[in-house]
Amino acid sequence: MRHFLSVADLSQQEFRAIIARGSEFRRQFEAGELQSPFPAKTLAMIFEKSSTRTRVSFEAGMAQLGGHALYLSPNDTQLGRGEPMEDTARVLSQMVDLIMLRTYSHEGLQRFCEAATVPVINGLTDLYHPCQLLADMQTYFDYRGDIKGKTVAWIGDGNNVCNSFINTAKLLEFNLRIACPAGYSPDEAVLKNAENAATVMTSPDEAMDGADLVVTDVWSSMGQESETNKRTVAFADYRVTKERMALAAKDALFMHCLPAHRGEEVDADVIDGDQSVVWDEAGNRLHAQKALMEFLLLQKS
Ligand code: CP
Ligand code: NVA
Repeated sequence: MRHFLSVADLSQQEFRAIIARGSEFRRQFEAGELQSPFPAKTLAMIFEKSSTRTRVSFEAGMAQLGGHALYLSPNDTQLGRGEPMEDTARVLSQMVDLIMLRTYSHEGLQRFCEAATVPVINGLTDLYHPCQLLADMQTYFDYRGDIKGKTVAWIGDGNNVCNSFINTAKLLEFNLRIACPAGYSPDEAVLKNAENAATVMTSPDEAMDGADLVVTDVWSSMGQESETNKRTVAFADYRVTKERMALAAKDALFMHCLPAHRGEEVDADVIDGDQSVVWDEAGNRLHAQKALMEFLLLQKS
């Protein structure tokens, strides 16, 4: 049995196979060739934070595989009344085939995972968002081919999505340049583990110089709402503008995991412009995660 808590849980070969399968699922979906290989399989999805894309992609994806997904929130389960996460993991494992958890603490997710006896998927923690990277890489490969040896510029907060980009840079062997203000660097241990794959700098212009892919994310992630004013000041010079996009390679792509704030981390003429692939990136959450669920269900059986 395998879990997916981090990009580093997969080998390079497994990661590549999952995104290739995701592309195949996309082609089948667009051609109306739906197959439902997993009837009666059930996914429990626990969301302790908000979600649009993650919730809909997992729920629709499980329906398309022939199974069923349950949305569980602390507000209307016993979790909100203090039932321990570990007990919830044990109980759900008796009833479902897969569990997805979106929560705050990554250690909390790891404890949940230790108590579970079915595969657990990280639907985002404060440390990582690995499902996002499956979709992002599937999108890059579909548009431009292999990312090995390419340069990716991350502009803004060294947050959960950035940490997962760092893991992916190491796994798929691309160069990641991270531009963030002092005090907002990515997780030190994650960075150290990536060795030479990721470099942190303060200048967004330097990071974007000749980059093949430019990525940004919100300045305040979920759970950081009280820091919004302070962060708005700290990140004021970290917006992805059209002028900055001109520093990247001519055929550079722009990605954002969404939700986005136009006029903050990215200007409207970039996210809504020709180089942006954010809608395919969001759509590929469905296909990449179907491939992930298939991988985990097949490993389990
Ligand atoms: N990108 C992403 O995970 O979006 P949601 O928060 O809407 O799930
Ligand atoms: N970094 C953002 C990603 C949202 C999908 C957050 O954690 O809120």
